[in-house]
Amino acid sequence: MPVKNRFAELLPEITAWRRDFHEHPELLYDVHRTAGRVAELLRGFGCDEVVEGVGQTGVVGVIKGKSDTQGRVIGLRADMDALPIIEQTGLDYASKTPGKMHACGHDGHTAMLLGAARYLAETRNFDGTAVVIFQPAEEGGGGGDAMVRDGLVSRWNIQEFYGMHNMPGMPVGSFSIKPGPMMAAADQFDIIVTGKGGHAAKPHECIDTTLTAAQIIVALQSVVSRNIDPLKNAVVSVCVVSTDSTAHNVIPQVVKLKGTARSLDAGVRDQLQDGITRVATNIAAAMGATAQVDYQRGYPVTMNDDQATVWAADVARDIAGEVNLDMQPMMGGEDFSYMLNERPGAYIFVGNGDTAMVHHPAYNFNDDAIPAGSSWYAGMVEARMPAA
Ligand code: NI
Repeated sequence: MPVKNRFAELLPEITAWRRDFHEHPELLYDVHRTAGRVAELLRGFGCDEVVEGVGQTGVVGVIKGKSDTQGRVIGLRADMDALPIIEQTGLDYASKTPGKMHACGHDGHTAMLLGAARYLAETRNFDGTAVVIFQPAEEGGGGGDAMVRDGLVSRWNIQEFYGMHNMPGMPVGSFSIKPGPMMAAADQFDIIVTGKGGHAAKPHECIDTTLTAAQIIVALQSVVSRNIDPLKNAVVSVCVVSTDSTAHNVIPQVVKLKGTARSLDAGVRDQLQDGITRVATNIAAAMGATAQVDYQRGYPVTMNDDQATVWAADVARDIAGEVNLDMQPMMGGEDFSYMLNERPGAYIFVGNGDTAMVHHPAYNFNDDAIPAGSSWYAGMVEARMPAA
């Protein structure tokens, strides 16, 4: 089974959907136009059920196979939201909304899954039920979590989940996957350092929040380098330092730090939270200041089931001829993790060719990846629920 021939025929149509989404990017849960278009297309394909408003603005389509002897249900997931980036691609179908851009290729994911839904509704060559899932708010809003909390799994009795993301730098239409952790847990922290502000020429009468914050930033790097097992993976990045002072000669009363902490297993995640809190509060105490640490857990680890990874790789290999099973996990976060926490499944990368990286203003999804991506989505349904 190479790329399904039907997707070569459907390519112009799927590409047109993709470019329409690209031209009309929407953020977070505010994906009303995109979700409306997705639902309209799914109904046009003859899906047996189309439900809007799942997890606020998610869309679910149900496609029944020719038979249903085992009660099998497979969920296929794509994300629909864009990013707050000013597009610099110069494309004739570039964003019509300044400051919003499909810079992560979710326009492509949505179009590829729509293509698979159209094919599956036409052919229905499987024994069971395919559920196509279009989620809002992948970029920081937890839309996958919202759909799960809205009963996604139980309402449609989904037994396995499969998801995909494009990846620049991989040959277009090629596939990479690995068992176990694929993407990181993505947490964030806020640290408020409070001292005693005053005249910068009289430091002895102040408790210097700027110096304290600087010591904390440096010491936080010891959490990864000294506390975490060197054979495990973790990131601590302090990304924002701010005060309400703008003067050269004022020691500020308060300095705020913001950052991110990434990990690939639960124990390391606990160590990061404990370590960041311990280092920040105690360094501050040593300086005579205080540090208030607010550690917020974000998306969990995206964990590929071992067996589901083999099935996903088999389908990818049939399409592309080979599959890279040797990839490294990535320290980015992905909220498909909430679905994989509910049921086994797998998340795979499809190559976007030699393009700008995702989240870059010059990035564009590569339409040449569509036949491979749509074939994989549809192939997962046919492989996991072969026609009786
Ligand atoms: Ni993305």
